[in-house]
Amino acid sequence: MATTIPTTHKAVAVPGLRQNYTLIDRPTKRPAPGEALVRVDWAASSPADVHVIDGGVADPQFPFVTGTCFAGTVVQMGARDPAAAPHRTQDLRAGDPVLGFTFGPPDRKTHQAYLTTPTYNLGRRPPNVSPEQASTVPANLVTAFHTLTRDLGLPLADGQTGTGTATDNKDKDKDKPVLLWGAASGVGQYAAQVLRHYGYANVVAVASARHHAYLAGLGATACFDYRDPDVVERVRAHLGGAAPPYVIDCIGSREGTLRPLTKIAGAGSRVAVMLPVITREAATGDGGGEVPEYEMDIGKVLAGEWAEGVEVRGVRTYFYQENEFFKYHLMPEIVPDLLAKGVIQPNRYKVVEGPTMLERAQGALDILRGKAQSGEKIIWRVSDE
Ligand SMILES: NC(=O)c1ccc[n+]([C@@H]2O[C@H](COP(=O)([O-])OP(=O)(O)OC[C@H]3O[C@@H](n4cnc5c(N)ncnc54)[C@H](OP(=O)(O)O)[C@@H]3O)[C@@H](O)[C@H]2O)c1
Repeated sequence: MATTIPTTHKAVAVPGLRQNYTLIDRPTKRPAPGEALVRVDWAASSPADVHVIDGGVADPQFPFVTGTCFAGTVVQMGARDPAAAPHRTQDLRAGDPVLGFTFGPPDRKTHQAYLTTPTYNLGRRPPNVSPEQASTVPANLVTAFHTLTRDLGLPLADGQTGTGTATDNKDKDKDKPVLLWGAASGVGQYAAQVLRHYGYANVVAVASARHHAYLAGLGATACFDYRDPDVVERVRAHLGGAAPPYVIDCIGSREGTLRPLTKIAGAGSRVAVMLPVITREAATGDGGGEVPEYEMDIGKVLAGEWAEGVEVRGVRTYFYQENEFFKYHLMPEIVPDLLAKGVIQPNRYKVVEGPTMLERAQGALDILRGKAQSGEKIIWRVSDE
């Protein structure tokens, strides 16, 4: 691929708390050993962007470059890193299509024309998946793997590695209910599909009624509507009054999701909650109204309201690479393989159009600030090339 590598490139960044995006120039970092320089073609925007921009979660340094999930094209590979464990994306070449979940320093963020990141944050995009579809996948599929293994302790086939198939899973837990509250979210959709693949046959989904048929197609075996005033009673009745052993709160809203779950979880339930927990919703969609508030310490949320014997855990996917196997194999190998085989269906998506990168990015942020996304990932074309 004969691409001239620029010395600087365009990025969108927020200049301060609760502000809108501005366009900035960033230096284009040449890849060090173990890294790749990638042109970002499509990126997703996520609720996490709002948590950081409007809520100050994780103490952002401004100007703050957002974005963790993308599809793009390799421009230049760094030398092999002899210290890194072998993995497939060390063999990528300029011109190869990739997708990735990449976080940390600004060089790695996805809301810019070029990013530079360790190759273990990337996977080769299989030809049956378009770049638009691919941009919906990495962060939330990795979150599903991380949550199911680390926070719920569920074996995915051969131990915690996630390399097996449904037939490998002899675990007796596969018939026990796994409750996905907020299953229409990206996290929920991928969790349902990963569970199905590894042989979990009792997945109870809570989502808007309009998504029930779709979720059934992804592996949900029973669906309930969280807007039904009797939803708690209906879920409890479905479970025969027993406490569900495994629960994922795919949203993490104190009043919207955790409060009803305190009435369903019981002794022996393990509840994995997406952090940060939203303790006060923003009142308006423009980031300028009531300020949203969040809590990162799950032990402080509805403390004393859980039944005795419920284990509540806060999910932090940014730590998934503490699992060395996942670090070197989840994005480079497992994610592309599951996509290539059609085991994982990418999220449906809404493309935010606009004449410039800045307008597309801002349009995506506005949708998320207004909580107007429903069952679809919000994506936009980054590169203007
Ligand atoms: N800590 C971590 O490691 C981690 C990782 C990934 C994501 N997260 C967090 O997890 C949350 C979800 O992320 P995402 O990307 O999956 O979001 P998303 O796809 O944008 O979620 C949108 C969906 O949320 C559902 N929803 C909203 N409020 C709900 C409620 N009260 N009850 C049930 N469903 C509700 C809506 O469902 P309907 O369409 O049915 O109304 C909507 O489809 C975000 O806050 C994100 O920051 C955390």
